[in-house]
Amino acid sequence: MGLLQVAHQPEPDTVPQKAAMGSVIAFANQKGGVAKTTSTLNLAVALAEEGKRVLTVDLDPQGNLTMSQGLNPDTIERSMYDVLVHRLPLEQVIHKGEIDLAVSSIDLAGAELALSSMIGRERALERALAPFKSQYDYVLIDTPPSLGLLTINALVASDGVIVPVQCEYLSLRGLVQLENTLSMIRENLNPNVAIQGILPTMFDGRTLHAREAVEILQENFGDLVFKTRIRKTVRYAEAPVKGLSVLKYEPGGSAAQAYRELAKEVMNGAQARQHA
Ligand SMILES: Nc1ncnc2c1ncn2[C@@H]1O[C@H](COP(=O)(O)OP(=O)(O)O)[C@@H](O)[C@H]1O
Ligand SMILES: [Mg+2]
Repeated sequence: MGLLQVAHQPEPDTVPQKAAMGSVIAFANQKGGVAKTTSTLNLAVALAEEGKRVLTVDLDPQGNLTMSQGLNPDTIERSMYDVLVHRLPLEQVIHKGEIDLAVSSIDLAGAELALSSMIGRERALERALAPFKSQYDYVLIDTPPSLGLLTINALVASDGVIVPVQCEYLSLRGLVQLENTLSMIRENLNPNVAIQGILPTMFDGRTLHAREAVEILQENFGDLVFKTRIRKTVRYAEAPVKGLSVLKYEPGGSAAQAYRELAKEVMNGAQARQHA
């Protein structure tokens, strides 16, 4: 709550206008273990397979996205911490692997505190991304499991938010809290950010419970729920151990295919909005 009140304070108008090109999407849900990181990486690789230029940003101090590309966040020298706090140019922390990845390190845990006393603290990421947005078709941002200043930076920098929701332990209360944060961000910091889609993850179609969870999501969010269901399979846990996306780990498998379907939905959704 404290951070949201902070977000209410007026901001000096120092940020360059949003570039027309490049769609920036944050993956957010303050609950951990819902497949934010898994979805960021695999959607990114699926979009890259479609010929899109994709940048991913690891904004979680736990560095799971960074680890899932085979890097060790404990030994990384320069990371998103330096970009946000010391204004290091973003390109200096981009690792080129399956896709471009702006890396996290353990330092990032100190970023919220370091940013908290700075003017424009909620816009540090937006400012860092601005010169690079035109180089990418999509920028996908992985966020930590909280609605703190790092996640707020991601939401301020984004056009859309994808909310992964675990079909097993559906918490609609958590989604209401995320929606409240988003509407405060729209009022104060970024009028354009909206939920782009809600992604049912870890779906086990054999259980009534999982099917009911998706029904509840659809009753509450209608068309905002993606048609793609990400099924539960151990492939998603196996792939990062090899430092790979599931699309590279098992290209012909159904786990890879699910994120290819999601990529199509995301690309079509963007078109529909442009024509609207
Ligand atoms: N569809 C899925 N089925 C089974 N396990 C999954 C699935 N998606 C992700 N996982 C696993 O669940 C754990 C949490 O996923 P992760 O993407 O790290 O969540 P978050 O970033 O929201 O904390 C990881 O071990 C991941 O490999
Ligand atoms: Mg994560």
